[in-house]
Amino acid sequence: MNINNIAILTSGGDAPGMNAAVRAITRYALGNDIKVFGIKRGYMGLRCGDIIEMNLRTVSDIIHRGGTILYSSRDPEFKTPEGLEQAVTFCKNSNIDAVVAIGGDGTLRGAISLIKKGINCIFIPATIDNDVPCSDYSIGFDTAINTATEMVDKIRDTAQSHEKCSVVEVMGRHCGDIAINTGIAVGATSIIIPEIECDFEKDVIERIKTTQSMGKRHFIIIVAEHCADSFDVAKQIQEKTGIQARTTILGHVQRGGSPTLRDRVVASLMGCRAVDVLIKGKRNRVIAKKCNNIVDYNIDEVLELKKNFDYKLYTDALHISI
Ligand code: F6P
Repeated sequence: MNINNIAILTSGGDAPGMNAAVRAITRYALGNDIKVFGIKRGYMGLRCGDIIEMNLRTVSDIIHRGGTILYSSRDPEFKTPEGLEQAVTFCKNSNIDAVVAIGGDGTLRGAISLIKKGINCIFIPATIDNDVPCSDYSIGFDTAINTATEMVDKIRDTAQSHEKCSVVEVMGRHCGDIAINTGIAVGATSIIIPEIECDFEKDVIERIKTTQSMGKRHFIIIVAEHCADSFDVAKQIQEKTGIQARTTILGHVQRGGSPTLRDRVVASLMGCRAVDVLIKGKRNRVIAKKCNNIVDYNIDEVLELKKNFDYKLYTDALHISI
C-alpha cells in the first residue's frame, strides 16, 4: 500500500522532545512526497477532526521547545466504542493512510484499538515516566531527570544549611525510573520506589540514623509518587529521628522545559524511523530504543512485554549514599 497521507498526534502527559519528533516526522515525510497532517489534542482531535496540514515551516523553531505544538489530552470519550468509531470514520473519510501516535502507555493502547479497527498506526514512546515496556528509552525522560536533579540540588543547599532532611516526591506513575536515577544523581539517603517494597524502619529510619552516626548532617529522601504519602514520610522521620524534615512535591515542573540534547536526538531519529517503516510498507509498528539502536517491532509483539527493572541500580545507590 502506498503511503500518501499521514497524521501525527501527541497524546497523554506531554514530554519534552515531542516537538522534535513532530518536526522530524513532518520534514522526513514531506521530503518523501507524503502529505502530513497534525491532529490537535491527541485522540480527541482524531475523533473531532481537529486537523491542520503541516508544511516545512509549521515545524520551524520548535526543536528546542518543551510541551507539544499539537497540544495533548487524555480523552475518555475515545475509549468508548462510539468515540473510537468516530476516530476511525474520520481517518477513513480523510484518506489517512497511517497515524503516527506519540505518547506513553495510554497512547499505545489507543493505537492498538485503532489498529484493531483496521487503521495503520505507528507508535513512538514519549513519556517522562520511561515506562513503555518494549523500549529502553522514552522521549522526555532525560529532560525530566535532569530537571528533577537540578531542583533537588537547590533543595539540598537549604537542607545542608539547616541540617535538615528533605523528602522530595517525583513523578513516574507506577515506574521508579525517575526516582532511582534522580536518587543516584543527588546522593539520596533512601529511595522509595514501586519496584521494591519499602521497610520504612530499616530502609529509611535506620539508614538516616546510621549515616548520621557516621557524620552525615543533611538527608535527601526521594519518594516515587503513589509509593507513600510524602508528608507522612517527613512527619515520621521527624518523630523517629528528631531531625527536622520538610516535603517538596516536584510535580509538573518535571514535564516542562527545553528538551536535552539526548531527547532532541532520540526524538529526531525515532521520527525519521517512523516514516521509514511506512515507506518500506510495514504496518502497525512500535518504534523503540534497544541497546542504543533505534528499532521497530510489530505492535502485537510488545503487548506481553514487561518493563525490566535494574535492581543493581538500587543496590549500588544504597552502597554509595552513606
Ligand atoms: O505520565 C506522565 C505523568 O506526568 C505521570 O508521571 C503522572 O503520574 C501523570 O502524568 C500526571 O498526570 P496529570 O498531569 O494528567 O495529572
